[in-house]
Amino acid sequence: MSRSEDDQAMPIAITLEPGTYFRCTCGESDSLPFCDGHHQAGGEVPIRFTVTERERVYLCACWKTDNPPHCDGSCGVALP
Ligand code: FES
Repeated sequence: MSRSEDDQAMPIAITLEPGTYFRCTCGESDSLPFCDGHHQAGGEVPIRFTVTERERVYLCACWKTDNPPHCDGSCGVALP
Protein backbone atom coordinates (compact mmCIF):
# COMPACT_ATOMS: atom_id res chain seq x y z
CA MET A 1 0.00 0.00 0.00
CA SER A 2 1.09 3.52 -0.59
CA ARG A 3 -0.71 6.77 -0.07
CA SER A 4 -0.69 7.54 -3.80
CA GLU A 5 -4.09 7.17 -5.42
CA ASP A 6 -4.62 3.72 -6.88
CA ASP A 7 -7.30 3.24 -9.52
CA GLN A 8 -7.27 -0.52 -8.88
CA ALA A 9 -7.75 -0.32 -5.12
CA MET A 10 -10.80 -1.69 -3.36
CA PRO A 11 -11.87 -0.96 0.22
CA ILE A 12 -10.58 -3.24 2.93
CA ALA A 13 -13.55 -4.87 4.67
CA ILE A 14 -12.86 -5.84 8.26
CA THR A 15 -14.95 -6.45 11.37
CA LEU A 16 -13.61 -4.56 14.38
CA GLU A 17 -14.36 -4.68 18.07
CA PRO A 18 -14.90 -1.41 19.98
CA GLY A 19 -11.67 0.50 20.41
CA THR A 20 -9.28 3.02 18.93
CA TYR A 21 -7.38 2.13 15.79
CA PHE A 22 -4.66 3.73 13.70
CA ARG A 23 -4.83 3.27 9.93
CA CYS A 24 -1.34 3.03 8.37
CA THR A 25 -0.72 5.68 5.69
CA CYS A 26 2.97 5.05 4.98
CA GLY A 27 2.57 1.50 3.71
CA GLU A 28 5.53 0.22 5.72
CA SER A 29 3.61 -1.41 8.56
CA ASP A 30 3.99 -5.12 9.17
CA SER A 31 0.41 -5.06 10.50
CA LEU A 32 -1.45 -3.55 7.52
CA PRO A 33 -3.93 -1.98 7.35
CA PHE A 34 -3.00 -0.80 10.84
CA CYS A 35 -0.01 1.25 11.97
CA ASP A 36 2.86 -0.47 13.78
CA GLY A 37 5.09 2.60 14.16
CA HIS A 38 7.15 2.30 10.97
CA HIS A 39 6.03 5.80 9.85
CA GLN A 40 8.35 7.35 12.41
CA ALA A 41 11.16 7.11 9.83
CA GLY A 42 9.18 9.20 7.32
CA GLY A 43 6.69 12.06 7.09
CA GLU A 44 3.45 10.10 7.08
CA VAL A 45 1.27 9.86 10.15
CA PRO A 46 -1.44 7.27 10.82
CA ILE A 47 -5.14 8.15 10.82
CA ARG A 48 -6.77 7.59 14.21
CA PHE A 49 -10.35 6.35 14.32
CA THR A 50 -12.68 4.89 16.90
CA VAL A 51 -15.18 2.06 16.73
CA THR A 52 -17.89 2.26 19.40
CA GLU A 53 -19.53 -1.11 18.82
CA ARG A 54 -18.57 -4.27 16.98
CA GLU A 55 -19.02 -3.42 13.33
CA ARG A 56 -17.94 -4.10 9.78
CA VAL A 57 -15.83 -1.20 8.49
CA TYR A 58 -14.58 -0.47 5.01
CA LEU A 59 -11.16 1.16 5.03
CA CYS A 60 -10.23 3.18 1.97
CA ALA A 61 -7.32 1.75 -0.01
CA CYS A 62 -7.44 4.14 -2.99
CA TRP A 63 -7.01 7.37 -0.98
CA LYS A 64 -9.69 9.18 -3.00
CA THR A 65 -12.13 9.19 -0.10
CA ASP A 66 -13.32 12.43 1.49
CA ASN A 67 -13.83 10.56 4.77
CA PRO A 68 -10.49 8.91 5.65
CA PRO A 69 -9.82 6.27 6.73
CA HIS A 70 -13.24 5.06 5.58
CA CYS A 71 -14.26 4.29 2.01
CA ASP A 72 -16.93 6.71 0.77
CA GLY A 73 -17.51 5.05 -2.59
CA SER A 74 -15.19 7.39 -4.53
CA CYS A 75 -13.39 4.24 -5.72
CA GLY A 76 -16.55 3.20 -7.56
CA VAL A 77 -17.32 0.30 -5.24
CA ALA A 78 -20.91 0.21 -3.94
CA LEU A 79 -20.79 -0.47 -0.22
CA PRO A 80 -23.41 -2.74 1.36
S1 FES B 1 -11.42 2.42 -1.48
FE1 FES B 1 -11.09 4.56 -1.50
S2 FES B 1 -13.07 5.44 -1.67
FE2 FES B 1 -13.40 3.27 -1.69
